[in-house]
Amino acid sequence: MKKKNIMLIGFMGTGKSTISAKLREKTRMEEVDMDAAIVERENCSINEIFQNQGEAYFRQVETDVLKELLTEDHRIISCGGGAVVKEENVKMMKDNGSVILLTATAQTVFDRVKNNNDRPILRGNMNVEFIQELMKKREALYLRAADIIIETDEKSVDEICDEILIKVC
Ligand code: S3P
Repeated sequence: MKKKNIMLIGFMGTGKSTISAKLREKTRMEEVDMDAAIVERENCSINEIFQNQGEAYFRQVETDVLKELLTEDHRIISCGGGAVVKEENVKMMKDNGSVILLTATAQTVFDRVKNNNDRPILRGNMNVEFIQELMKKREALYLRAADIIIETDEKSVDEICDEILIKVC
């Protein structure tokens, strides 16, 4: 493996958690989900953090957690969908491993997340149009951060993982 860690980035619902869990099985590397680490550290849900402390606080915790996770090597890190918004986070990612961008169409994302209430950004905005618009706003950030881009529409979890492993090894 060329670099130390594998970081999965991408919009909500592009499959980062599913793919990172499968990659762990295939590689036996340690796997960490940033959102789960945030929930554990703050001892409350992502929705509660947004509601009680606000998005800026969440983004600071997100940066702190990423920094902490990157003190170790050979990890698969499933990053929160908004982690690329801060330049500082992107720099840390690029300095510490391979950054894999997972993409999907707004319709696919909608189909995957529509029944889930755990994402504060989509609360009250659960429709394809909003998703499409936010995706567009973030597109350049995702592309700038990515070392490797993997389209996930119409592909199986195994196919996506194999594509990633061929490209990072
Ligand atoms: C967010 C994505 C979420 C989570 C938070 C904010 C975003 O992670 O970090 O709700 O701003 O895109 P997932 O991409 O894992 O859903």
